[in-house]
Amino acid sequence: MDWEPTKGEKGRRRFLQNLAGLTGVGVLTATLSRAQEGSTTKELGIGVIGCGGRGTHLAHLTHQLGQKGAGVRVVGVCDIYRPRRERLAQQLGVKAYDDCKELVSDPQVDAVIIATPDRLHPFNALEAISAGKDVYCEKPLTHWAQFSLLKKLRREAKKRGTVFQVGTQFLSDSIWEQADELISAGVIGKPIHAQTGYFRLGDWGERGMPIDDPKAKPGPDLNWSAFLADAPKRPFSVSRFFQWRMYMDYAGGPCTDLYPHILTPLARALRLGPPKKVVALGGKHRYNNEREVPDTFDLLVEYPDGFQLAILGTIANEYGMETVIRGWDGSIIFTANGLTIIPQGGKGERKEVARIRHFSDEAHLMNFFQCVRDRQKPYSDLEMGYFVQVTLNMAMMSYLKGKAVTYDSVRDEMVL
Ligand SMILES: NC(=O)c1ccc[n+]([C@@H]2O[C@H](COP(=O)([O-])OP(=O)(O)OC[C@H]3O[C@@H](n4cnc5c(N)ncnc54)[C@H](O)[C@@H]3O)[C@@H](O)[C@H]2O)c1
Repeated sequence: MDWEPTKGEKGRRRFLQNLAGLTGVGVLTATLSRAQEGSTTKELGIGVIGCGGRGTHLAHLTHQLGQKGAGVRVVGVCDIYRPRRERLAQQLGVKAYDDCKELVSDPQVDAVIIATPDRLHPFNALEAISAGKDVYCEKPLTHWAQFSLLKKLRREAKKRGTVFQVGTQFLSDSIWEQADELISAGVIGKPIHAQTGYFRLGDWGERGMPIDDPKAKPGPDLNWSAFLADAPKRPFSVSRFFQWRMYMDYAGGPCTDLYPHILTPLARALRLGPPKKVVALGGKHRYNNEREVPDTFDLLVEYPDGFQLAILGTIANEYGMETVIRGWDGSIIFTANGLTIIPQGGKGERKEVARIRHFSDEAHLMNFFQCVRDRQKPYSDLEMGYFVQVTLNMAMMSYLKGKAVTYDSVRDEMVL
């Protein structure tokens, strides 16, 4: 993280001016009317890869936004499991593909939404990028063991000038940009420490994943080897296919599934870049069934300028913790309404700052569509997502090896 306050009072004034100039009107409405005004602009054709829970949700949202005049249309969907792709294609009245290569080569497709299991993200995204299509890719960017594919993804997207939005929709909440402006203006002094956490109750996100058909098996309706991609070649199992988030081959537990949602906002607010060192602990402390991924996971990150971050969480208890950024001169606490600035040592008064825009899947999608049109950087772009993923990969390595992991920024390598 670079610490470059926006020169004292000047920065503070700029922030207050910016704050005063913004209204509470949702960005979604503003963007929708912009899209409606620009009716001469070509309608964007969207392809959806992965027709499970998330892909179906995002496809329907995109369809609804199109119906409201957002200038987008779902033109095709893809899944390696026939019943799911056919169901979604029928619901939306679009073409169904069983191979993402064919979907991305459809000239009607301008951009794709990727909502396949983690391990498939880089393969799907690289296909789309090489076909010249923009990408909205669900978190995590890759599976934790795919570091070289992650690097390739970053390289190729940069080379092709791909507009790339990571599906961390909390980034569409304006409070992270607002926090960035406040911190850059110096309101808490040099940031020194932060804490955040993700706590919820139940293994419904893994063991609770629906099994559509307990008798499903590989064949013309289910392409098992396309699901496996570069994962270890294992015999088919209904649970591995439908409940893949339970297994280390395809997922990583809270660290890779949930923490992109809480680390990326802090990366945005603090302009976090590459970490210096990561240590992590975790385990299956409550849900000790056939599940392989941990249910509890804590990590500590040190950045090159001495800033430290703690991310804690479990799915065995839903009692949460505050997200706090601490600086030399004060702290920022994130609240339901926005944030509170607390001066250090009782000097000065607490100050509440209300958020300008709430997060939503719609706002995140609309931001992506607008950026595709304007060739701008979206809220949750790949460059920021890259270092978030590197940090989480380092945490997974630390957890698995029981050692601290450092990042060699010259070689772009993780070192045990
Ligand atoms: N942003 C969020 O809040 C959020 C919420 C839920 C899930 N997600 C992410 O969305 C992704 C999908 O999760 P889900 O819960 O929808 O899983 P899911 O299992 O319900 O859906 C995944 C679908 O991808 C299909 N698939 C597998 N391999 C494929 C391939 N090679 N090509 C095309 N399709 C393939 C599967 O058949 C399945 O239908 C995950 O990466 C997850 O982390 C994000």
